[in-house]
Parts: sequence; structure tokens; C-alpha cells
Amino acid sequence: MGLFDSTVQTHSSASLQGGLVFPQSLTERYRPHSLADFVGLDKPKKVLANFALRPFPNAAFLFVGPSGTGKTSMALALCEAIGGELHHIPSQFCNVATVEDVTRQCHYVPRNNTLHVVLVDEADQASSAAQLSFLSKLDSTAFPPQTVFIFTANDTERLQDRFLSRCMVLQFQSHGMAKEAASLLEQIWQKEAGDSAEKPNFLRIVQDSKNNVRNSLNSLQVELLSA
Ligand SMILES: Nc1ncnc2c1ncn2[C@@H]1O[C@H](COP(=O)(O)OP(=O)(O)OP(=O)(O)O)[C@@H](O)[C@H]1O
Ligand SMILES: [Mg+2]
Repeated sequence: MGLFDSTVQTHSSASLQGGLVFPQSLTERYRPHSLADFVGLDKPKKVLANFALRPFPNAAFLFVGPSGTGKTSMALALCEAIGGELHHIPSQFCNVATVEDVTRQCHYVPRNNTLHVVLVDEADQASSAAQLSFLSKLDSTAFPPQTVFIFTANDTERLQDRFLSRCMVLQFQSHGMAKEAASLLEQIWQKEAGDSAEKPNFLRIVQDSKNNVRNSLNSLQVELLSA
């Protein structure tokens, strides 16, 4: 599936450029692969763990929340948990032609006969034509069989009510996760730097990033590089 596979490959274990294998960034190396490994997000973790125990088709989730809180990563972790066949549509490719192409592929039996998982990132940035196209796909008569849709968005302002009413909405709240995120940074620091370097203030890093875990990891990377 050319285009989408190449997106999925960005989650592979190392970056290969010009024949050189580079180490992964912290955000990629420490991306949680199982639902339980995410910091915070108690409600989404509980809902999705239960869904993963008994997954059902004709389901559409919408993950809404601030940037860097784990929406895309948790969609990937859910797909791993149910052994689904991933179709990842990044926001810049979310047009009518892509929606049609992906849903057409979802009419085939998925790999391992589990479920197709269509991950649509930044769905609120999709063209209104693409949103309309999804609206019709999410209707029970047109819903591709053996398929789960997961949409992510930073907020719901640009999403139509008719679209929202077809989705199970999960809020990704970042408040209250500071302590857990700080202890994640500490564990990573320990693994990467051991006791050799002076520890930064992990809680401060998280607070300065306004609980954005991706930003916190990038700040930690800077601290590691300067240690
Ligand atoms: N709750 C979390 N627990 C652990 N790591 C996290 C969490 N949230 C984010 N991360 C880290 O940050 C990285 C980026 O997260 P992700 O891309 O899932 O965020 P997002 O919510 O989709 O952001 P955006 O809205 O900008 O697309 C992950 O690879 C992971 O390393
Ligand atoms: Mg994302």
C-alpha cells in the first residue's frame, strides 16, 4: 500500500539515511507500545484496554486533546494490541481520493483476519470534502466491514456535529500528568546518562512544556546532548 506503508515505516526501529544507521530520537525510542505504558490518560487507557479485549468492527474513535499527549501513539498501540492492519493517513494526505482509496482496501479481509485500523491524524485539518466523505463511510450502510476508524484532533471546533455524533470521543487531558511524566523523564535519564551527569529538574522540564510529553522529551534530549 505504497504511500501509507511509507508513513508506517517512520515508526521502524532505526532511521536509515544514506546507508548510515542513526540512533532514534528519544520520542521514537521511548514511544509506548502498550496501552499501560502511557503516562496519565487513565480514561482512554481503560476504555481502549477493554476494547482491545473484545474488539468490534463498525467503531469510530475520536481522540481529542493537546499536542504531544499521546493520541497518535495510543492509536498505534491499540492497533498493535488487536493485531490490526494499519492504514495511517497523515493530515496532509487526507483528501477525498485517499479516503476512497483506503476504504476500498478495507473491503478486503484484513491481514490475520483481525481488523483494519484506519488512523486519520489531525482530522480537524482535513478538507471539508474529505470530512463529508468520511461522514458517508461512517454510516452503517457504507461502513467498511472489519474496520475501526481512529481520528485524532487537537480540538473539535472544525469538526461537524454530524461527524462528532458518529464517533466515540475520548479526551486526552494533559493536566494532572506532570508528576508521572517527570518520573518517565527521570527513568529515561537514568538509562541514557546513568549517574555520571548532573540531573536536570525533570518536573520543571515538564511544566515548562505545559505537560506536552513530546516537547518534554525533546528538552530532555537537549539536556542529554549537553551533559
Ligand atoms: N502519555 C504519554 N506517555 C508516554 N509518552 C508519551 C505520551 N504522550 C506522548 N508521548 C511521547 O511523545 C511522542 C509524541 O506523541 P504523539 O505523537 O502520540 O502525540 P499527539 O498527541 O499525537 O500529538 P499531536 O497532536 O501533535 O499530533 C510519543 O512518541 C511518545 O514518545
Ligand atoms: Mg498526533
